[in-house]
Amino acid sequence: MLSKKPVYFDFAASTPLDPRVAEVMLPYFAEHYGNPSSIHLFGQEADAAVETARLSLAKGMNCSSSEVIFTSCGTESDNLALRGVAFAIRAQRSANHILVPPTEHHAVSRTAQYLARYHGFDLEYLPVDQFGITYPEDVASRLRPTTALVSIMYANNEIGSINPISAIGEVCRSHGVPFHTDAVQAAAYLPVDVQALNVDLLSVGAHKFYGPKGVGALFVRKGTPIFPQQTGGSQESGFRAGTSNVPYIVAMAKAFELAQYERESRTAHVLPLRNRLIRQVLELVPDSKLTGHTVQRLPNHASFVFQNINGNDLLINLDMAGFACSSGSACKTGSPEPSEVLTALGLSSAWALGSLRLTLGSSSSPEDVEELIAVLPGLIEKMR
Ligand SMILES: Cc1ncc(COP(=O)(O)O)c(C=O)c1O
Repeated sequence: MLSKKPVYFDFAASTPLDPRVAEVMLPYFAEHYGNPSSIHLFGQEADAAVETARLSLAKGMNCSSSEVIFTSCGTESDNLALRGVAFAIRAQRSANHILVPPTEHHAVSRTAQYLARYHGFDLEYLPVDQFGITYPEDVASRLRPTTALVSIMYANNEIGSINPISAIGEVCRSHGVPFHTDAVQAAAYLPVDVQALNVDLLSVGAHKFYGPKGVGALFVRKGTPIFPQQTGGSQESGFRAGTSNVPYIVAMAKAFELAQYERESRTAHVLPLRNRLIRQVLELVPDSKLTGHTVQRLPNHASFVFQNINGNDLLINLDMAGFACSSGSACKTGSPEPSEVLTALGLSSAWALGSLRLTLGSSSSPEDVEELIAVLPGLIEKMR
């Protein structure tokens, strides 16, 4: 039995709710509980809260509030972006070509594969370099008159690398092709100014930036063809039916606002810790490599591969030693498969199966990092 609380190194998976966020959302459960679609005062109150939240998100994204659609999570935002645009563009001009890199989160990659397999779209994978980065010239050379959509993540959840979204967005815009970015990881630390990023669609999910699980948003630039993927009432201007989750929407707006205001201080907190973690792990663990870019990466994100190590076993051992970490790989017990992302970087399975992702956040301390560094090299040595 562990005598102390495990140390959390998995902020990329989810973050704790910020107490300031909890405070603003609580009254919307039992006090201001109206349905925003109702005509009466209770409804008006709820509707005002949703629209204030929408304005706040729009301000942070530098767009108009009519361009923000609330969803239930980052996955739903990605699905609405891909499916919604693919079907609308095909209906409009028979375009059926979709471009994505092989390093996307499953919310995008599986959706694109589904569109190809069951709806006849022509899915083409964009190349990535050894850091998992996609380049604008590679997008430019693959665009076709029949390209319906390009989707490239802002920052990678497994390896932390940041894509040159603004430059890719310029290429797509000059060819009149809608461009979506999954900013679910990026929104916690990077600016999400949709004008500077040159994107037509951008997904976020609140639980990655100290908001609650179960709420997300999709920016859709005015004029972008998109079909709703959930039909019913006229909520979200008809683009996403279903009674609005008022407390969670209010909470996401607050969490997003805090992420913008506190971006610099949050980065200043995690960056030196992450740098120390990376330096020490690479120095103390033989046959170890950093995955993802060394500089162009999320400030709280450290990810590694260790040769001839089973990533799942490593996670279990770390958990027993009091460290909550994650593996970049989609290993399943019994039949370990290397992660598609790590394979796309050109890593052999002897390396890709031994992945470890350490992500930092608000409660991370220098002591946490030192404790992990004191344990990890010995653990890996013993496992080998
Ligand atoms: C890059 C990326 N996209 C999408 C998602 C899915 O977001 P959600 O958990 O809000 O559905 C995640 C979650 O890990 C992610 O990291």
